Amino acid sequence: MTSQEIRQTPAPGAGPKSSTEAATPDEKRKVAIVTGAARGLGAAIANRLLDDGWNVLLVDLDGPALHESAANYVPGVAKDTDRGEDRFFCHVGDVSNADDVDAMVRVAVERFGRLDLMVSNAGVAALHDFLDLPLSVWRKTLDVNLTGVLVCGQAAARQMREQGDGGAIVNIASLAGLAAGTGRTAYGTSKAAVIHLTKQMAMDLGRYGIRVNCIAPGPVDTPMTRKHHQETTRRAFTSRMALSRYGAPEEIAGVVAYLASNDAGFVTGQTIAADGGFSAAGLMDSTPG
Ligand SMILES: NC(=O)c1ccc[n+]([C@@H]2O[C@H](COP(=O)([O-])OP(=O)(O)OC[C@H]3O[C@@H](n4cnc5c(N)ncnc54)[C@H](O)[C@@H]3O)[C@@H](O)[C@H]2O)c1
Repeated sequence: MTSQEIRQTPAPGAGPKSSTEAATPDEKRKVAIVTGAARGLGAAIANRLLDDGWNVLLVDLDGPALHESAANYVPGVAKDTDRGEDRFFCHVGDVSNADDVDAMVRVAVERFGRLDLMVSNAGVAALHDFLDLPLSVWRKTLDVNLTGVLVCGQAAARQMREQGDGGAIVNIASLAGLAAGTGRTAYGTSKAAVIHLTKQMAMDLGRYGIRVNCIAPGPVDTPMTRKHHQETTRRAFTSRMALSRYGAPEEIAGVVAYLASNDAGFVTGQTIAADGGFSAAGLMDSTPG
């Protein structure tokens, strides 16, 4: 195949398909991997995809929490009623370990026959003042939040390239990757890099009909923010948000569902800030007029 040939990405409906839905005419064959699916955003994303008819491989480092979370998926919704099979499967793995990541793609394909969507959501956060940031925390944060997105993207895209009919990748970055916040040297830098990595991936994978997009969530109520956000942090966030509130995990899952769908068939290399308006804010004056 010449580079000329592989660069021609067909529009949906013309020749080989370029979007996730168009690539899989049988709705029940849509297959996704969601990392960090044991709790928080990952659990909500997996739930939403199951509701939308996807088959989902749920991946997390924390096996017990993963199985506990999966037990809450509504029986019947998460079942293929024709085949009588569960549409989700739990897999314990570390996104920063390339062998683990290869294994998770292998398991998804063994279990569900193919792969159409990778949601790189797993992440870690630790807050330290710049001067006190331990090198071990910096390395661990970059390893999981950035290298994890790289290797998950590579493994997924290799499988999608082999299938030959496109796919979608959604990376979860953060508002902290769009604007710096106190104590977020490692976290914010890792997330800023994910936003750029998304563009790089989109450039190199477009020729295979693989779309790559990113979400930069603002503060969302999850175990991560319950651990790290004190009352003062919460007030500092909400006072600068047009919507003046934390998001719900389901509101981020809705954006993933859109980016994975055929409605986003011409969208790639983009970052959507789902942040209640924080990144749009300038002056926040409560006095009218
Ligand atoms: N909650 C927020 O307000 C918010 C805002 C912006 C971005 N994010 C991002 O969204 C993602 C999910 O955040 P959350 O709030 O649900 O976090 P969380 O801590 O509640 O859940 C993260 C999950 O990822 C898993 N995980 C961590 N390291 C892993 C690894 N190496 N391999 C596999 N799994 C691993 C954890 O076990 C956990 O289940 C993260 O990337 C986070 O940085 C969250």
